[in-house]
Amino acid sequence: MKRPWRTTRRLALSEIGEEHANELHELDSDPRVMRYVGHGRPATRAEIDAVMRRVPRAYGLYPGLGTWRATRRDNGDFVGWFALKYIPRTSVVEVGYRLRHAAWGRGYATEGARSLVEYGFDELGLYRIVGVTHPGNLASQRVLAKVGLADIGWGHFYDRPVRVFEAVRDAAWQPSWESDPAR
Ligand SMILES: CC(C)(COP(=O)(O)OP(=O)(O)OC[C@H]1O[C@@H](n2cnc3c(N)ncnc32)[C@H](O)[C@@H]1OP(=O)(O)O)[C@@H](O)C(=O)NCCC(=O)NCCS
Repeated sequence: MKRPWRTTRRLALSEIGEEHANELHELDSDPRVMRYVGHGRPATRAEIDAVMRRVPRAYGLYPGLGTWRATRRDNGDFVGWFALKYIPRTSVVEVGYRLRHAAWGRGYATEGARSLVEYGFDELGLYRIVGVTHPGNLASQRVLAKVGLADIGWGHFYDRPVRVFEAVRDAAWQPSWESDPAR
């Protein structure tokens, strides 16, 4: 089996391929999962198909960024996805996640999001990472706060008003390649 792109204590994150369309369709068909996402309703097959064309292509277009499928390391069960990517039509990088209902309440979102925020700052050298949520999505807001993003108020992304959270890199941060004479 292909090695995961990144692992956390309990999760393996891997690239999404066309073979995962049914899994993502199942995820986005659950009204509980979609309550605070997009238009607040399950996605159609056509919408999922569009996502399935976009996500695998984005790994090549935006190296280092992407949307990764998460599975449990102990039994391989599909948990959901995590993303570190540009918000469409902006230069703002967001951390995002969507988990199967059966996986909620076990700290997985916090674990995966924390890993991507650390990766974004430590390995990509990003300056700023945001999280945007529906104002009623308190669980997601709690996750963002737990991984170090602060509530900075209202913003307008995805054509709607959202609650915006952000973390800015430590001012003392130095890229590892600056001290490497070989680079
Ligand atoms: C939001 C979501 C990712 C949370 O996943 P999760 O694995 O259950 O999250 P965690 O267990 O890591 O943490 C959730 C935190 O929110 C808290 N929480 C859960 N429901 C809450 C609610 N209704 N109000 C306030 N806090 C809530 C939990 O108690 C926990 O905080 P704690 O550790 O301090 O107790 C998950 O519910 C999900 O995928 N929802 C559907 C998609 C979605 O909304 N994605 C985010 C879009 S911005």
